[in-house]
Amino acid sequence: MKVLVTGGAGFIGSNLVKSLLKVGHQVVVIDNFNDYYDPKIKENNIKQFIKHGNFKLYRTDILNQIRLAEIFKKEEIDKVIHLAAMAGVRNSIDKPNLYVDVDVKGTINLLDLAVKYNIKQFVFASSSSVYGERKDLPFSEDMKLDSQASPYATAKRSAELFCRNYHNLYDLNISILRFFTVFGPRQRPNMAISKFTKLIAQGQPVPMFGDGSTTRDYTYISDIVRGIKLVLEVNPRFEIFNLGSGRQVKLLTLIEVIGNSLGKKSKIKELPAQPGDVPVTYADITKAKDRLNYQPQIDIRRGVAKFTQWYMKEKSNGGHINRKVI
Ligand SMILES: NC(=O)c1ccc[n+]([C@@H]2O[C@H](COP(=O)([O-])OP(=O)(O)OC[C@H]3O[C@@H](n4cnc5c(N)ncnc54)[C@H](O)[C@@H]3O)[C@@H](O)[C@H]2O)c1
Repeated sequence: MKVLVTGGAGFIGSNLVKSLLKVGHQVVVIDNFNDYYDPKIKENNIKQFIKHGNFKLYRTDILNQIRLAEIFKKEEIDKVIHLAAMAGVRNSIDKPNLYVDVDVKGTINLLDLAVKYNIKQFVFASSSSVYGERKDLPFSEDMKLDSQASPYATAKRSAELFCRNYHNLYDLNISILRFFTVFGPRQRPNMAISKFTKLIAQGQPVPMFGDGSTTRDYTYISDIVRGIKLVLEVNPRFEIFNLGSGRQVKLLTLIEVIGNSLGKKSKIKELPAQPGDVPVTYADITKAKDRLNYQPQIDIRRGVAKFTQWYMKEKSNGGHINRKVI
């Protein structure tokens, strides 16, 4: 099977590409290596695949319709896994138009080509942030979603609605996956677990926004990759699935777990809560369990241990995590 992975040089994308190549799929990646974080990290993520016979890379933007059309025409793609996006809640508050361009219009560009070239399945990477700030927990796929807390979340929700629209209009098979805070090796350096690990390892205080009682459902990268591969096997006509761990972890607990894993005492600097951040994310994963046989395997302690081990190894090898966070 030939799979197009947009955003394949990023954190989730590069972990997914590795796993798809391993089971014998042909993989085409589109990525524009933008500088939301240091593009050298993305180069480093994909350098292991460059010489692989089943791997092909296109350095282009999903907003470049002409180039995208050429790629679809040439490659005879079976399935699309659309991960390319501007991620990050806080950055989206400063640049809402960029998020509409990349996360909404970029998605429509790909949906159009998926229809034109009779793609067998379109998988869209959505986010737990579409649930917004709410008290009815855990978050389940059939909840009514009409209020998000950031332009990023609104753009993702809007792209989800376009996916639904394209399924209704053109009968394109579409699976929407709502990822809950993904972490693990090659994680974006501007995400909390990366930043905290770096600071705690250096003996510096961690900036904690709020009183530490906010919670996240943290999902280890290998569980997300497995979830994506399961949805490729099932290929439903149109479904939305939460991919989370199904557990809530307090911010304060996360900071402690990272400190314990590094064998250091975590110091904390308490700061006011940030606009755009929701107090809770918590996935109901019953549907993914029932329909996909999805079973998350790595809990926060094991996941953080794996992440900090990778981090310390990269650091001692002079790897990319030593680079400045943009
Ligand atoms: N990491 C998480 O916790 C998380 C949670 C929920 C949803 N998601 C979603 O999962 C997907 C992957 O996230 P990630 O954490 O791997 O982020 P990432 O930033 O590491 O990867 C995204 C990749 O997309 C590429 N890209 C961005 N804009 C592009 C464009 N216009 N054209 C071509 N390529 C472009 C980037 O260069 C990058 O390599 C995103 O859609 C994100 O919104 C991630």
